[in-house]
Amino acid sequence: MESLQDIAHQIYQKTGVMTSSKDVEKILSAAAATPHFWEIISLSQKPFSVVAEIIELLRQRNLLKVEKNGDIKFNSKGLEYLGSLKIAPKRTYTCHACEGRGINFSKLEDLIKKFDQVTVNRPKAISDYDQGFVTTQTVVGRIALLAERGDLEGKKLLVLGDDDLVSIAAGLSGMPTEIVVMEIDDRLVEYINEVANKYNLPIKAMKYDFRDKLPEEYVGYFDTFITDPPETIEALEICIGRGISALSKEGCAGYFGLTLIEASLEKWNVFQQILASKFKVVVTDIIHNFNHYVNWDYLLNTVGKQYEFVQVEPKLNWYRSSMYRIETLKDSKGIENEYKPCELYVDEEALIYRGDKA
Ligand SMILES: [Fe+2]
Repeated sequence: MESLQDIAHQIYQKTGVMTSSKDVEKILSAAAATPHFWEIISLSQKPFSVVAEIIELLRQRNLLKVEKNGDIKFNSKGLEYLGSLKIAPKRTYTCHACEGRGINFSKLEDLIKKFDQVTVNRPKAISDYDQGFVTTQTVVGRIALLAERGDLEGKKLLVLGDDDLVSIAAGLSGMPTEIVVMEIDDRLVEYINEVANKYNLPIKAMKYDFRDKLPEEYVGYFDTFITDPPETIEALEICIGRGISALSKEGCAGYFGLTLIEASLEKWNVFQQILASKFKVVVTDIIHNFNHYVNWDYLLNTVGKQYEFVQVEPKLNWYRSSMYRIETLKDSKGIENEYKPCELYVDEEALIYRGDKA
C-alpha cells in the first residue's frame, strides 16, 4: 500500500485541492470512528471532494467495503493498514448541551420557542443562491454571542443575506434598535418584511446584490454586521468588504461563518491576509463548528452521484462552519465601489462543483 504522502498527491491531482499527508491521516481517523460518510466529513473537516476521493481510493485498494446501506467499513486489511500507521479513531469531547458553542441555552428557551413559532412558514432553501439555513440553536446562539460581545443591545445591525432569518431572531430578542436586511432573494425580502410587520419588529428588508454599491445612506451607518457568505475568495472578499464599509467607526464588529468543507486552509490563509492587510481589521474570535446547517433538500441531487457511499441521506447536521468575529480599527477600510462580475459560488473546493462533473 502506498504512503499517506502518495495518497495525498494522487488526491491533489484528481481534485485540484491542496491535500497533505496530515489531511489524509485526519480523514482516515474520522473514517475509523464512523461508517457514515457525512459524519466522516463532519469529523475530519476536510473538503467534500477530498474526503469522497480518499474513501473511493481505499475502496479500490480493497481496504474497506461499502455496505448496501452505504455504510463504510474497514476490512481486516484496512484495519492492519491503519494500525501500521498508528491511526486511531477520532476522539470527540464536545459538550452536548451547547454543541461546543460555550453558550448557556437555558437562558434562551423563550427566544428559541418564539423563533420556531414565528418562522414556521419560512421559505425553503434553494440552490440558486447557495442557500442552506442554520439550526434554531445556531441562530439563537448567534444572538447570544453578539449580545455577549456588546455588539447587539442598543445597536444598529446589518444582516447581509438572511436565509438564516437572523434578523427575525434579533428582532424578537428586543435588543437592537434597528435591523436592516439586504438580501438577493425576493421571497426572503418579502417574507422578512411580512413577519416584521406582523410582530412589530424594527426590521427593514430590501433587495440587494452585494456586487452592487451599498445604498449611500448605509455606508458607515451600522455598529455590527453579520453574514454567511458563499466561499469563493471573490465572494468572501466582496461580501466582507461590503460589511466593513457599512460599519461606522473603529470598534465595530462583523460576524460570518467560514467552513473547512468548502474552503481549504490555503483559502483561509489567502482570506486572512485580505482581512489583515487590505481591510485592516482584527480577527478576535474563531469559534470552531459554531454554525450547524439544517440538511437541505437538493443535496443528493447536486453532489457525489458517482459514489454509492455519498448517495445516503445524512443522519446528522453534518455541514458546519466556524464563526469568525472581526473588529474594526481606526484605519479599517471595506469595499465601496461597484464590483465587476465575478464567480460567487463555484471553485474547485465548492461542494456543488463536483456534482456538476458527476
Ligand atoms: Fe457547553
